[in-house]
Amino acid sequence: MLQLYNVKIREFKKSDINDVYQIELESFPNPYSKNLLMYYHEEFPDTFLVAEYLNRVIGFVIATIEYECIGHILSIAVKKEFRRKGIGSLLLGEVLNRLRKKGCKKVYLEVRVSNIPAIFLYKKFGFVCKGIIRKYYLNGEDAYLFEKELI
Ligand SMILES: CC(C)(COP(=O)(O)OP(=O)(O)OC[C@H]1O[C@@H](n2cnc3c(N)ncnc32)[C@H](O)[C@@H]1OP(=O)(O)O)[C@@H](O)C(=O)NCCC(=O)NCCS
Repeated sequence: MLQLYNVKIREFKKSDINDVYQIELESFPNPYSKNLLMYYHEEFPDTFLVAEYLNRVIGFVIATIEYECIGHILSIAVKKEFRRKGIGSLLLGEVLNRLRKKGCKKVYLEVRVSNIPAIFLYKKFGFVCKGIIRKYYLNGEDAYLFEKELI
């Protein structure tokens, strides 16, 4: 059984690219390309994190820092067989700490209106829905815009 204390949250490194890309493929209908993932690593090395368990990458989170130091969670995903065990919470908690330490006062993200697991995760972390972005996704689905103050 997975013990959370055996899960290490660390910065993405280049050799993680295939594992992260596999998780992208199994998690999202329109996955990021390897090139885009590498771009985020190069631009935001401190806030592109992975969860490592027994030398395997089993999840990741990517956040960027935008104008006026506003954090933006771009992506978070956990390998299917490891979901609902607390890994997403570890990743999200650590990336929020890092954004806070970098001086961000606010963080936002978009989530599909149908994505119940993610919506529950964000609400659990104190994110608040600020509105709907119509047809945000390629298949025409709407997004909720969620925000959280970082204090
Ligand atoms: C969203 C995701 C990252 C959550 O990761 P996870 O490791 O399963 O999350 P955790 O185990 O830390 O769960 C934390 C909380 O999220 C909520 N949650 C997670 N999975 C849920 C589910 N299937 N149904 C309802 N709530 C869920 C719960 O509130 C949970 O807390 P609880 O277990 O105390 O009830 C994961 O489901 C995933 O990879 N989904 C596919 C990719 C994706 O949709 N990413 C979000 C894009 S916006």
